[in-house]
Amino acid sequence: MIYVTRRETFSASHRLHNPELSDEENIKLFGKCNNINGHGHNYTLEIIVAGEINPYTGYLIDLKLLKEIIIENVISKVDHKNLNMDVEFLKGVIPSAENIAVGIWGQLVDKIPMGELYSVKLYETENNYIEYKGD
Ligand code: NI
Repeated sequence: MIYVTRRETFSASHRLHNPELSDEENIKLFGKCNNINGHGHNYTLEIIVAGEINPYTGYLIDLKLLKEIIIENVISKVDHKNLNMDVEFLKGVIPSAENIAVGIWGQLVDKIPMGELYSVKLYETENNYIEYKGD
C-alpha cells in the first residue's frame, strides 16, 4: 500500500453557533468563535489517497488529476465563502473544523478513480488540525 497526498488551501469565514442554545450559552461555549458576524481562517487541506502503484504509469494516481478533483468538488465550493450559509454540503451542521473535514470526506469519497480516499486532514491554524478517515 502506498499513500499519496495533495495539499490545497482555501480561505473562508464561519461562525460557531448552536441555534438550539441561548445567546449566553453560545458565548460561553464558543467564545470569540461565536462572534455574530463571523471570523475567517486560512485553511490548509491535505487529501491522502491509498492504493497500489500502477506499473504502467508508476503512479498510484496522477497528482494533477487529484488536484483537479479536489478543486472541483471542494475548493470551488468553499473558497471565499461563508461556511454557515454558502456551502450545500455543510447545511445544517456547525461548521467546526471537525464537521468541515467530515463534509469534505463526503464530497470526495466516491470521486477518487484510482486507489481510495484514506484521510482528510484539515488545518484550521498552523497548530490545530483535524483528521478524518471515514469511520
Ligand atoms: Ni474559527
